[in-house]
Amino acid sequence: MTKKIKRIAVLTSGGDSPGMNAAIRAVVRAAVYYHIVPFGVYEGYKGLINGQFQELNARSVANIINQGGTFLKSARSSEFCTKLGRQKAYEQCIHNKIDALIVIGGDGTFTGAQFFSKEFDLPVIGIPGTIDNDIYGTDCTIGYDTALNTVIEAVDKIRDTATSHNRLFFIEVMGRNAGFIALRAGIGAGAENILIPDSDRDIHHLLASLKRSDRAGKTSSIILVAEGKESGRSFQLAKQVNQKLSAYEIKVTILGHIQRGGRPSCQDRVLASQLGVSAIEALLNGKSNIFVGIKNNQLVCVPLSEVITHSNPINAELLHVADIVST
Ligand code: F6P
Repeated sequence: MTKKIKRIAVLTSGGDSPGMNAAIRAVVRAAVYYHIVPFGVYEGYKGLINGQFQELNARSVANIINQGGTFLKSARSSEFCTKLGRQKAYEQCIHNKIDALIVIGGDGTFTGAQFFSKEFDLPVIGIPGTIDNDIYGTDCTIGYDTALNTVIEAVDKIRDTATSHNRLFFIEVMGRNAGFIALRAGIGAGAENILIPDSDRDIHHLLASLKRSDRAGKTSSIILVAEGKESGRSFQLAKQVNQKLSAYEIKVTILGHIQRGGRPSCQDRVLASQLGVSAIEALLNGKSNIFVGIKNNQLVCVPLSEVITHSNPINAELLHVADIVST
């Protein structure tokens, strides 16, 4: 028989994302609604290992739905990657009489949660929070929509100056090995080219496209680049293009961590609220070692193990649209 859930702990881990506060608020208020005592853990898995627990209530999460970042703070913990670190974290949960854990974060957070849940008898539920949107099994992660809006606002501004000076701009966005931000924001901001790790397009393809733009009479262009493995690859790309097409005046802008901050969009606040409530209800329905997500507008529960074995494919139809509308 599954143990009655009386006390839960919630934490945020990995890169923060706008809407994490809204998710914590929803978890806490859903817990209170179902007569469960919620605890916040400060600084992610590091705080779990160090026992940084604090009891929360409906009022402790007032006026945070509109705030970026995470009031519980976030961290990347190398100690939690070790069995000993996870053992310490489990002992802290037992010491604080925690019956289940809710973790808000991205793929690194979920990978840690998956190990933890296999090793110890403590239910874990994940809530996807990352601007990268690179979690298999959910159409959207918390923070992705806000980051897209931040990017298109920045690109719009850069376009003004690019047009005034007839310049070619490489604008690099976050997303690690995933091109979700670059692809969607690229279409939204009307970028002439989008370079993402998930597609097989190379520098030759880019040069051919720039030559076509030149022949078509374009005097300035925006190229949106997903950062890939390492931030800064746009400088290398700009150099390569400059060697072949020296007539262009080229500039590079790396948007960086500006993409992780700011007030969450309405879409992210609502998604965070839905997923927070859904996480508590999944626990009460006896679910464990899953994360809650949204697929085709339906709330879904996905085994944490699938995050490690699958990756989120890029939308090929959007790539096709980008090609047509950028001519
Ligand atoms: O949150 C995800 C992400 O923004 C990636 O796109 C990026 O590569 C990474 O985090 C950088 O995070 P940090 O500087 O916190 O290590």
